[in-house]
Amino acid sequence: MFGRRDNAIGVEDVPLAAIAESGGTPPSFYTGECSRRRPRRRPRPPAGGRARICYAVKANANLAILRLMLELGAGFDIVSAGELQRVLRAGGAGEDVVFSGVGKSVAEIDFALKVGIRCFNVESEAELERLEARARLLSRVAPVSVRVNPDVDAGTHPYISTGRRENKFGVAEGTALDMYRRAAGSHALEVRGIDCHIGSQVLELGPYAAARDRLLGIVDTLAAEGISIDHVDLGGGFAVPYDGEPGLDVETYGREVAAGVFSRGLELIVEPGRYLVAEAGVLLTRVEYLKRATREGQRNFAVVDAAMNDLLRPALYEARHAVEAVEPNDAAPLRWDVVGPVCETGDFLAMDRDLALTEGALLAVFGAGAYGMVLSSNYNGRGRAPEVLVSGGEFRVVRRRETLGDQLALEGEGR
Ligand code: LLP
Repeated sequence: MFGRRDNAIGVEDVPLAAIAESGGTPPSFYTGECSRRRPRRRPRPPAGGRARICYAVKANANLAILRLMLELGAGFDIVSAGELQRVLRAGGAGEDVVFSGVGKSVAEIDFALKVGIRCFNVESEAELERLEARARLLSRVAPVSVRVNPDVDAGTHPYISTGRRENKFGVAEGTALDMYRRAAGSHALEVRGIDCHIGSQVLELGPYAAARDRLLGIVDTLAAEGISIDHVDLGGGFAVPYDGEPGLDVETYGREVAAGVFSRGLELIVEPGRYLVAEAGVLLTRVEYLKRATREGQRNFAVVDAAMNDLLRPALYEARHAVEAVEPNDAAPLRWDVVGPVCETGDFLAMDRDLALTEGALLAVFGAGAYGMVLSSNYNGRGRAPEVLVSGGEFRVVRRRETLGDQLALEGEGR
């Protein structure tokens, strides 16, 4: 998708420099070019096997990306009424949607019940109680899956690990069984599926297989009691390479994890977010100043016009994103920390990178298509960067640059 022509980096047929130049200054620019190839490369379920990809909207919620996902036949995994609204605005339907998250409010539950979503992925007994009460009040039947906390270690960063017993997500096996019994006995609830999500940026298949087996064990116990489950939702979390390291191999996932669901005649749902969009996006940023070390123990800083408010991952998870100069230059390579203008020591995009840099050079920070824009903020009074979608030789702005006026409008005159 990204490649060099005349030594300058481009995306599809568009040079990244052309995108940056069209955006005015400061050009901390985003391309949200989304890979259409990923879903096509996915392993197919065996004959008669049923599978659905529910794209995790939280990874990149731009309407243009959601439209692209719809075109590709995906459903959606959402975690708020806001995300549900986005899916509907993009042309999605309730039956394409599963609703995860530990804190669904009454208003969110009511909205999703009225829209008629495919499934509520329920995360606690208290939520099941609330869901039942609201469904009864609104004369609806709520489709239910219980999110099980399988107590497996996904081997990922602690902030994005979700499937261990100390994490806030899901319920223990025994609690899940009680919840299913309650749901099966209620006219306002209908048992549909079972789900888990063990974490994000997961590379190993072992934890997925262990979680699957936990879930299938519950399916068996329930079947013996006459409670039947139709789908198994194994969540998302497929790891992508950010800087040359390996990503999760979906072919092997198909063979070693998914097959165990198909062989039981159950429908498989997966909820990848990052895997579908991360590598399709770059953050474009220009070098404002080069600040070289002058004494022992100092570091070389390339101060760029993008910051942690644009791409929070390095600051929050010490995530390593590949960074490259978009166009060649004659500078001698040096070891740089690429930092932003925000007044925080944690405001860095990359540490210890050997780069040839000049002031004014355009840099591409790779792997920014997932958890980039969605985690951005107005910290330090900064407007959010625009998003551009590239297709072949064309590109268009799919979210304009945020102005100070946009920010101030929410505060009236401050009185
Ligand atoms: N399903 C559920 C229930 C989730 O909580 C998540 C992510 C996903 C699916 C999608 O996970 P993915 O396939 O994208 O890994 N901000 C962090 C990631 C947080 C993920 C939260 N949940 C990051 O930038 O690494």
